[in-house]
Amino acid sequence: MGTEIYWFSGTGNSLSIARTLNSMLSEQGKLLPMAALYEKNNNTTDADVVGFVFPIHLGDAPWVVKEFVKKTHFTLKPYIFAVATCNANPHDCLPLFHELLKKCSQTLALGEIIEMPGNALVTEPNIEQERLDAAPGRVAEIGRKINNREIALQKDKDMDIPANPMIDRIYNAMKRFKVSSQCDGCETCQTVCPLDNISLVENTPQWGQKCTACWACFHWCPQEAITIEVPTIGNRRRYHHPDITVTDIASQHVRRDK
Ligand SMILES: Cc1cc2nc3c(=O)[nH]c(=O)nc-3n(C[C@H](O)[C@H](O)[C@H](O)COP(=O)(O)O)c2cc1C
Ligand code: SF4
Ligand code: SF4
Repeated sequence: MGTEIYWFSGTGNSLSIARTLNSMLSEQGKLLPMAALYEKNNNTTDADVVGFVFPIHLGDAPWVVKEFVKKTHFTLKPYIFAVATCNANPHDCLPLFHELLKKCSQTLALGEIIEMPGNALVTEPNIEQERLDAAPGRVAEIGRKINNREIALQKDKDMDIPANPMIDRIYNAMKRFKVSSQCDGCETCQTVCPLDNISLVENTPQWGQKCTACWACFHWCPQEAITIEVPTIGNRRRYHHPDITVTDIASQHVRRDK
């Protein structure tokens, strides 16, 4: 019974939304990090209200979020909501999430998009501020819908979208990193990586194979020593949500060497 809100976040937008949303629910729930839980063989929830809050990556939920949902066993038939944060281009993320839940014999009762500052394509500073200012109002609106158990089903998709090799190429490039001589071995990148995908070898970060392209390592590096092999945005202005800290982001996973 009760409410559980599962969250994933690279630069803090989704975590900030999850926290604010929880504070606006008539029955406050537990905030649970998907990154820490997805590696378990399964996750069982007996909550009667279950929420998922995450960023949109290339028009879809991050793979770690999708894997987590697939591994979750729902004891009850809960009221399920999803809030996806993005940089104004949600594509089919919510219909895809609805399809995913259907495969788990569940229903997405309410799906909402919140536009936030982009952490891949750059958002103009004035728009960035407008979105940050507007977010609490949007969250209050969503909180009211959840408190009233409103249902707004996503449309079924007519057909499966064929795999797009171009998207795969972009996605792979978004997971290729370089580190410059500015790196001082401070370990922040390792600390914030939600998937424990970074290890420091002779004080220099090395990336493993299970990156989910959240770009936390890139944005939180205090020396701006990390770049990404994507033209034009691979060394973009760094961003993180103003209310969220390294410790907050690090709280979503357990480092194996600690
Ligand atoms: C690899 C990657 C892909 C992204 N793809 C999209 C996208 O398809 N549409 C969009 O509007 N925003 C996209 N974004 C922007 C994020 O969804 C947005 O900034 C989000 O609020 C970040 O949330 P977070 O701070 O919780 O990680 C992308 C960001 C990254 C890092
Ligand atoms: S966060 Fe930046 S400076 Fe610190 S170890 Fe990683 S790359 Fe180097
Ligand atoms: S390696 Fe960087 S982009 Fe990949 S999951 Fe870790 S923090 Fe995110």
